[in-house]
Amino acid sequence: MEGLSRRRLVGLGAALPLLGQVSWALPARAEPSPVRLNYNESPWGPSVAAQAAMQEGIAGCGRYPYPLQYELIEVFARQNGVSEDQVQVFCGSKLALQYAVHAFTGPPSLVVAEPSYEAPVDAAQVRGTRVHAIPLDARHAHDVDAMLAADAAPGMLYLCNPNNPTGTLTPAAALERLIAKAPSDTVVVVDEAYIHFSDAPSCLPLIARHPNLLVLRTFSKLYGMAGARVGLAIGQPALLERLEAFDGYNVGAEPSLRGALASLQDGLLVAQRKRDNQRLRDATLARLRQAGWRCTASQANCFMVDVRRPAEGVVEALAKAQVLVGRVWPSWPSWLRVSVGDVAQMQRFEEAFFQVMG
Ligand SMILES: Cc1ncc(COP(=O)(O)O)c(C=O)c1O
Repeated sequence: MEGLSRRRLVGLGAALPLLGQVSWALPARAEPSPVRLNYNESPWGPSVAAQAAMQEGIAGCGRYPYPLQYELIEVFARQNGVSEDQVQVFCGSKLALQYAVHAFTGPPSLVVAEPSYEAPVDAAQVRGTRVHAIPLDARHAHDVDAMLAADAAPGMLYLCNPNNPTGTLTPAAALERLIAKAPSDTVVVVDEAYIHFSDAPSCLPLIARHPNLLVLRTFSKLYGMAGARVGLAIGQPALLERLEAFDGYNVGAEPSLRGALASLQDGLLVAQRKRDNQRLRDATLARLRQAGWRCTASQANCFMVDVRRPAEGVVEALAKAQVLVGRVWPSWPSWLRVSVGDVAQMQRFEEAFFQVMG
């Protein structure tokens, strides 16, 4: 197995001349060890504009910020060609997803891909809902025909595009087929938490034609605001009402809403962070593959690598080297997930990985 020389690591820095010099690429604050590549968070945190807006929001915390929440909805709706009554804000998209499981399943079943984001399955287990977990296909896309065949009348079909943990895409035509063919009483939830990192088209334009389609978005990933807890559910008003029954028309925190608004209003942020994430991810993937390791074809800010041994042991060994990665999905026991960090973090990961793997 090929090791990674200092010179090649320096080469990574040279290949990324812009990183570290620009405001959107600066870490929110210097982070000590360990290197944290285990939650698909952004190494850059909220953008500079979002941080300023969040600071401004602190003074307003004496009041419930409903007007700001409406403004966020209005801006998102305008930018994405949906109507304002088709957008609702939640304290993180995970909450909207959990509410969806409670609203749309049990007794009707939940159909998911495997491996995929576990939050809906966890919620279904609490509820006692039957879960059909359908393996990703050979290209690590959702096997939409098998998902449709799993149950003639499921309560909810959950698809994550790009998928967490693989970072892989499901072709738009396959997603559209599933949405078109799903029974009218079945809600299709398409989780677009990582869509900004990819070139995939969003499912948002399909909402007008499909009353049973719910799309989820988050400010936690590309926008770097995981700790501020802002997520969006987008769907036709009757569907959103079934989610809101659980949320009681709650409102986000003013600093978080202001940060989200500033992120949407920054016309350059998505393209810049998408490009930086892609360069860092693909540079590491190229070196792993060159050294003989199989990796997923990621279009997100995480990828998986097949370590050809129980991956839990590798996660532990990397943690001892102060590099936190993971998780490992039980259905893919030799694969571990790695989140994409900044230049220094990816260097630390590569050094530790090649050392641990020998
Ligand atoms: C696919 C997916 N959806 C939703 C979430 C939750 O995001 P939020 O921070 O908005 O709750 C995550 C978090 O990792 C995720 O991977």
